[in-house]
Amino acid sequence: MKYKAIKGTRDLLPEEMFKKRYVENVARKLFESWGYLPILTPVFEQTELFVRSIGETTDIVQKEMYTFLDRKGRSLTLRPEGTAPIVRAYLENKLKDFRNPTKLYYFMPMFRYERPQKGRLREFHQIGLEVLGVAGPDIDAEVIAILATYFDMLGLSTYEVRVNTIGCRKCRASYTRKLRKHLKESFERLCIDCQFRYKANPMRAFDCKNRQCRSVLNRAPRITDYICDECQKHFEGVKHFLNLSGTKFVVDKGLVRGFDYYEKTTFEVVSPLLGAQSAIGAGGRYDPLIADCGGSETPGIGFAIGVERLLLQLEEENVRVDSLPPLDIYVCFLGEDLLDEALRIVFDLRRKGLSVDMDYTHRSLKGQFKVADRLNAKYVVIVAPEEQEIESVKVRNMASGEEKIIKKEMLIKDLMEIIPGG
Ligand code: HAM
Repeated sequence: MKYKAIKGTRDLLPEEMFKKRYVENVARKLFESWGYLPILTPVFEQTELFVRSIGETTDIVQKEMYTFLDRKGRSLTLRPEGTAPIVRAYLENKLKDFRNPTKLYYFMPMFRYERPQKGRLREFHQIGLEVLGVAGPDIDAEVIAILATYFDMLGLSTYEVRVNTIGCRKCRASYTRKLRKHLKESFERLCIDCQFRYKANPMRAFDCKNRQCRSVLNRAPRITDYICDECQKHFEGVKHFLNLSGTKFVVDKGLVRGFDYYEKTTFEVVSPLLGAQSAIGAGGRYDPLIADCGGSETPGIGFAIGVERLLLQLEEENVRVDSLPPLDIYVCFLGEDLLDEALRIVFDLRRKGLSVDMDYTHRSLKGQFKVADRLNAKYVVIVAPEEQEIESVKVRNMASGEEKIIKKEMLIKDLMEIIPGG
């Protein structure tokens, strides 16, 4: 083979596409019933949008963006995440005037130059949701509750919802001083990245997977102990409303998240079944982001789910997802002379909206039946000389094996009656 898919990218073949479509359909139905509307933003944006919003010192901006110059020398970046583009779209299209608060959801591919491994790709898909324009903790609870409800609706049970608060810019200033002091004491033990983070943004060190850094950070002061009264009150509200909504969660004081735009509430859904890449979904509140992008002070909160990880989780939990949908009817015919007749029936039935297929490769009748079986056909219509003589065809119910001779003029009517939705 001359060409291969680029490292870290994958083809989504039909079987997996059906599963992806299934999880998207469940999400679409749930999100729309809670008042969220769909949105899609372009695959690439001005690089500056991501640098400013995600944060100059974050791993994504430092190491993971697919950035390139277009033919006029403008710096563009393939979308590494959805929140910043949605905020840009919200401001540019004045979505606030259309609906305030603005509740949106999306299914979009994302691109990050990370080291590929199980559950971590360079092109991956997210199911995400954002609310712009609500500051209170009740919406935080709604957003976390819809995330948990979604996993429950899919039939998942082995996951944990973790929530935390990382305070606002005010309370983080005094905490950052304390954290720097702690990191300085063990500076030599930190990896090069964390030594850089120490100067630029010490909270990022919590994202580090290096064992030595982890042991330094395990003993580090926690943001939760430096939260200002207002942020504390907000967090108490989030927990109260989460309990009220019946959402199970744990508080994880180490949950800081890898984006600079977050403040106050952060959360993550993790699974013990997924190995190193255990986060199936994650999000948080990003109140400063909209003003940072040039809008007026507008609060925001949202999350994104990694679709590939979600599909792995469904597999790990043995949740059956209907992948290939069954075919309504497979039309078989015996002998080339009856090809025209078989085709006529196929086209007529398809025009009625039924899912119908037939063989175009000159298989024997036995071979055609094998294909009908593989396609999981509910009914097989057999066009054969014997029935042809009496202007009829044979119809076989593949589940029960029952066969009936039906007059051709009655075929469509009869099949439409017995096939659900036909
Ligand atoms: P994130 O934590 O970077 O957040 O990504 C959300 C989810 O996307 C992760 O929990 C994971 O399931 C999946 N994911 C991330 N990177 C990869 C990868 N390389 N390969 C496969 N899956 C991956 C965000 O993207 C924020 N924009 C979420 C958000 C929305 N916050 C507020 N609103």
